[in-house]
Amino acid sequence: MKKILITGGAGFIGYNLTKKLTSEGFAVTILDNLSSKIHSDKSKYNDLKDISNFIIGDVCVREDWEKAIIDQDAIIHLASETGTGQSMYDIHNYTNVNVGSTALLMDILTNTKHSIKKILLSSSRAVYGEGKYLNSDHKFVFPNKRSVYDLDKLEFDFIDENKEKFVPIPTDEDSEINPLSLYSLTKYNQEQILELLCPNLGVQPIILRYQNVYGPGQSLSNPYTGILSIFSTRILNNNNIEIYEDGLQTRDFVYIDDVVNITYSSLISKNLKFSTYNVGSGHAQTVMSVAEKLKEYFKSEIDISVSNRYRIGDIRHNFADISRLSSDFDCSSFLSFEKGLLNFVEWVKKQNIHKDLYEDSVDELSKKGILR
Ligand SMILES: NC(=O)c1ccc[n+]([C@@H]2O[C@H](COP(=O)([O-])OP(=O)(O)OC[C@H]3O[C@@H](n4cnc5c(N)ncnc54)[C@H](O)[C@@H]3O)[C@@H](O)[C@H]2O)c1
Repeated sequence: MKKILITGGAGFIGYNLTKKLTSEGFAVTILDNLSSKIHSDKSKYNDLKDISNFIIGDVCVREDWEKAIIDQDAIIHLASETGTGQSMYDIHNYTNVNVGSTALLMDILTNTKHSIKKILLSSSRAVYGEGKYLNSDHKFVFPNKRSVYDLDKLEFDFIDENKEKFVPIPTDEDSEINPLSLYSLTKYNQEQILELLCPNLGVQPIILRYQNVYGPGQSLSNPYTGILSIFSTRILNNNNIEIYEDGLQTRDFVYIDDVVNITYSSLISKNLKFSTYNVGSGHAQTVMSVAEKLKEYFKSEIDISVSNRYRIGDIRHNFADISRLSSDFDCSSFLSFEKGLLNFVEWVKKQNIHKDLYEDSVDELSKKGILR
């Protein structure tokens, strides 16, 4: 396992993974189209072009895949459209890039000679939708999506017939799958395509369901993904922060170095017991507490307010059960959220201030009926 193709290798995770793999002596080929949504300039390309075989190309183009897979031992397929809200109206593009690219790859591997032994897919916790909860009878439940009717009444939590709230608990890999956005549907379709076809080809599929990955290097210019980027860009531009719902919705944040180490270990490991792993911290943070910590760490004076607005397709809570991950990988040195956030803030402070595109994204999401 020495020659590795990383699609989306210039992105947040791909860039860090490329650095790790090349430092460990792997020969890395990158296939990335340097999407303008993510890359405001060619700095990532300039940084990586001398340590990798960088192909500027598109995972939706057969010839680009064919060129990129020559002589490779493994593929790490990261290239993707990633915005949950945006996926609900940019439907053909999201399906084409995420599902189409995976179908194209399998078509090529099935119908031509190749040397691929392993494919790693960056999937998402989004495939679970809401994930796992306990109801008032202490039974496991996997609630479906929240209705617009309830959300309009500001009833953001799941409530049973006795008016008691469901309690979110860690979501394990055997939980029900329930994609609630087109993005999550495409991630699950990618998984299914690999699970169905890889065994016929003698290729080992590894599916990593990442939670919210954060840390130095994440895109500050894309206003559609990642509340840490969105909130930080607001703070740096001295703009107030609007929190959707009531601010008590939670997310699981996992630090980039931990994600890179797990992804690397899953690439080199010869005896993994499972094909699918959650990759998260296992801890839930409320969106409000994240905004408040950022305000404190940036020593900012901006206001944080709850607007009670909501986005169609957003989940209320989800955090990872990492028992399976911990049984096959060393998770003992995962960075705490507080330390990771401080690293992130210190890095953001050194960046050129990015134009705040949040208002534009709000207008667009409102016009499309996603933000209400
Ligand atoms: N970052 C997270 O929090 C997170 C969470 C869950 C899952 N994931 C998954 O991990 C993967 C990587 O995420 P990331 O945060 O590094 O994303 P990113 O947006 O930073 O990077 C994606 C890269 O893919 C490239 N790309 C996009 N479309 C392409 C195309 N058609 N052809 C070639 N290249 C293309 C972009 O130029 C970019 O460099 C994605 O598959 C994403 O769905 C990420």
